[in-house]
Amino acid sequence: MSKHHDHSKHDHGKHHAFGIDVGGSGIKGAPVDLSTGEFAADRLRIPTPRGSTPEAVTAVIAELVDSFDLPSDTPVGVAFPAPILHGLVPSIANLDQSWAGVNLDEVVSSALNRRVVGVNDADAAGVGEATYGAARGVDGVVFVATLGTGIGSALLVDGHLVPNTELGHLQIDGHDAESRAAESAKAREDLSWEQWAQRLQRYFETIEYLFSPDLIVVGGGVSKHHEKYLPLLKLRAPIIPATLRNAAGIVGAASLAAGER
Ligand code: BGC
Repeated sequence: MSKHHDHSKHDHGKHHAFGIDVGGSGIKGAPVDLSTGEFAADRLRIPTPRGSTPEAVTAVIAELVDSFDLPSDTPVGVAFPAPILHGLVPSIANLDQSWAGVNLDEVVSSALNRRVVGVNDADAAGVGEATYGAARGVDGVVFVATLGTGIGSALLVDGHLVPNTELGHLQIDGHDAESRAAESAKAREDLSWEQWAQRLQRYFETIEYLFSPDLIVVGGGVSKHHEKYLPLLKLRAPIIPATLRNAAGIVGAASLAAGER
């Protein structure tokens, strides 16, 4: 019997993959039903270790995966808050600096003893939204931003991802954009929704000037409060909340790992 048949037998005929989202404050994982983009079991969240070194983060990823009874051939995708060049993390903003130069795919695959595919977290969210969510079936240029500890960016053209765009680090008015407009800046500076919306206005108008997107999708945990700030933004393109919200990274990483796209 082929591997594929084994796998579908375990999953009762469903096509599953496991997604993990490594964030600045939490590391989350869930099995994903790839036919719907929905979690096949409740998501598990473990706080990101203080010293977020490769060893510490890998140990949490292993704990997460071990908490689910996954068949050995279930694809595992890891959404990670840095550019990922064929597994390699060239630089990192919001986790321990010792990640720079590490090959995420190799380190995590050998700790888990199974093949793991790493992808930038915003790219994973963009793929999740394009496959199952707010940008599904949308042609043209779609810009997906994730607002959290940092700002992540995904650029899709006719549904195809241009990976590792890192547009949260655009220099705007002499500042690294995410230091002014991420959700963490709102919290750190105790900004009102209106004050934060002004920062977002400056950010997204710069994105519009540079990329002329047809659609802007806003994700990250704060997208659940979208009615507090998205209506305050004046842009050419429609700007809409992510429909998968904070699940987009997990879902997109799972679907990329399964080679769905
Ligand atoms: C990182 C990106 C990441 C984003 C969101 C930025 O600081 O450079 O790679 O996508 O934060 O986590």
